Amino acid sequence: MDKKVTVIGAGNVGATAAQRLAEKELCDVVLIDIIEGVPQGKTLDLTEAAPIEKHDASLTGSNGYEASKDSDIIIITAGIPRKPGMSRDDLISTNMGIMKNVTKEAVKYSPEAILIIVSNPLDAMCHVAYEASGFPKNRVIGMAGVLDSARFRAFISMELNVSVENTHAFVLGGHGDTMVPLPRYSTVAGIPITELLTEERIEALVDRTRKGGAEIVGLLKTGSAYYAPASAAVEMAESILKDKKKILPCAAFLDGEYGISNLFIGVPVKLGSSGIEEIIEITLTEDEQNALNNSANAVQELVETLDKLEKESK
Ligand code: NAI
Ligand code: 2OP
Repeated sequence: MDKKVTVIGAGNVGATAAQRLAEKELCDVVLIDIIEGVPQGKTLDLTEAAPIEKHDASLTGSNGYEASKDSDIIIITAGIPRKPGMSRDDLISTNMGIMKNVTKEAVKYSPEAILIIVSNPLDAMCHVAYEASGFPKNRVIGMAGVLDSARFRAFISMELNVSVENTHAFVLGGHGDTMVPLPRYSTVAGIPITELLTEERIEALVDRTRKGGAEIVGLLKTGSAYYAPASAAVEMAESILKDKKKILPCAAFLDGEYGISNLFIGVPVKLGSSGIEEIIEITLTEDEQNALNNSANAVQELVETLDKLEKESK
């Protein structure tokens, strides 16, 4: 393949993303993990599935970064996931150290890559990767909005018994309890769901979307969701690799857009071969803007926690 994507973290999300990237023949894939044998074993297994799945993507597993040289995209899923009773924010101190190290290593070998951050707490981890990489803001992108919107779409489709392909949804804000699903911009075959569902039903779907990650943690008990998260990261990678210029909700570094500055938060962006090519500013009602501001405040608190942890570690 003429494109190369490195996935760091060969756990549930990372390995599933590697599988989807290869099976869609989007690129060659390098899978990196600290656990010896795991990335090698998983990529060998995926390679042995290739004749049946009918793809010619090459998959390489490694515990070092040399194999990742000159990647077009680096997807970072390294870190710990949450267990029942934990919030995404409980992961911050462990995942901050991991994110800093893996980003520094990866960018040494791929200084022109685009980073897609997945590890939680997502918006805070984007800040860590942004600082550790020294990359421009268009090349550091967080995955959350595509997943949260897909969950909202799945629930809308189940509620109305329509094809998921007819659904469209937007979820903005941080990837946490304060996320901001936008029913006014969520449609079925172009019809806003506000015309198809009662306020009460919409609120129930919004609430289930906000708690979507926790619902799966509660069921799995040993970790968090990974099929839909991997699909979401791969949709972002595909838009970049093919320069499709899809508009997708992603965590982006805001510099005054939506009245927010110096903060990664979920907003609609155009994703093409140079990463974030445009931040789309949609009109929000006062309530929607207040909800986004509230979410930004929650992310800001996490960024302050990062600063505190950083000072304590010195
Ligand atoms: P997992 O535990 O299955 O996999 C994580 C992998 O990272 C493990 O294989 C571990 O060995 C590896 N790892 C740890 N430290 C490393 C290092 N220094 N270098 C390389 N690899 C390292 O976890 P899972 O389910 O894959 O989730 C990964 C992360 O993604 C978690 O933080 C989780 O909360 C987050 N996540 C975020 C989502 C989002 O919407 N942004 C959705 C789903 C998961
Ligand atoms: C999720 O939303 C754990 O952030 C992850 O499933």
